[in-house]
Amino acid sequence: MTYNLLKGKRGIITGALDENSIAWKVALRAKEEGASFLLTNAPVAMRMGKINELAQMCDTEVIGADATKVEDLENLYQVAMDKLGGKLDFVLHSIGMSPNVRKGREYGDLKYEWFAQSIDISAMSFHKMLQTAEKLDAINEWGSVVALSYIAAQRTFASYSDMAQAKAMLESIARSYGERYGRLKKVRVNTISQSPTKTTAGTGIDGFDAFYTYADFLSPLGNASAEACADYVISLFSDLTRMVTMQNLFHDGGFSACGISDEIIARMKPQP
Ligand SMILES: NC(=O)c1ccc[n+]([C@@H]2O[C@H](COP(=O)([O-])OP(=O)(O)OC[C@H]3O[C@@H](n4cnc5c(N)ncnc54)[C@H](O)[C@@H]3O)[C@@H](O)[C@H]2O)c1
Repeated sequence: MTYNLLKGKRGIITGALDENSIAWKVALRAKEEGASFLLTNAPVAMRMGKINELAQMCDTEVIGADATKVEDLENLYQVAMDKLGGKLDFVLHSIGMSPNVRKGREYGDLKYEWFAQSIDISAMSFHKMLQTAEKLDAINEWGSVVALSYIAAQRTFASYSDMAQAKAMLESIARSYGERYGRLKKVRVNTISQSPTKTTAGTGIDGFDAFYTYADFLSPLGNASAEACADYVISLFSDLTRMVTMQNLFHDGGFSACGISDEIIARMKPQP
């Protein structure tokens, strides 16, 4: 079902690598809802991934930008405003990567150089996107900026490792920058804390299948899919959520409010 929720709105969508990416689904939904936008990803991901296919489907272009590099982000906003014909109304930050997780380092044996990279890529890049947008005055009043987070920001999931610190910082940036940008320009800034989702970033976490299944059994509605996440992102980009800002919004089928479920009790009962 489409509602023209983003008719006339312009934006930037980061992080679409392949058809499993949450950002991929957001792009397809944004197109359906009448938005015009540019896609972007790190140059290396543009070579490996399928983002050009998505650009064709969405009738748009891909602009390479490493989200850790301010000069790349400046170029991205400038090109976006030129090509789309004005200031932006929405930005999606859908970026995460930890070299420590990727290379299987134990939490007690982290390489600090990599820890710093995890923070830079997965959290500080969000601040860089916001600060660059503010300096270039690239976002219209009542614009909306959304980043994707995970409940490991609040609760420990051992194998999530240094990404937990990155997500905690990401959510904190949404509050701090949301306060500033709201006051200055009425721009909204939120994070969505999404269920485990089968994507390249998600399945890169050790034991992902177990916590995907566990979350599915615990959540009364089951895990939220990437498509459902895209719907939620679209609602936050729309004018229907103009007074929502500085929030971490759980999109997890109820997981974050649950202790235990009948399903898990049944599975843990000793077999006769
Ligand atoms: N998959 C899950 O279980 C899950 C759950 C909650 C939150 N999230 C978050 O959702 C977001 C999107 O991840 P996904 O699950 O769609 O996986 P994904 O692997 O499809 O997307 C991650 C993206 O980050 C991009 N990226 C990495 N380094 C970058 C850089 N330096 N500059 C620009 N882009 C860079 C990658 O190229 C990729 O497109 C991430 O923030 C992730 O942590 C995922």
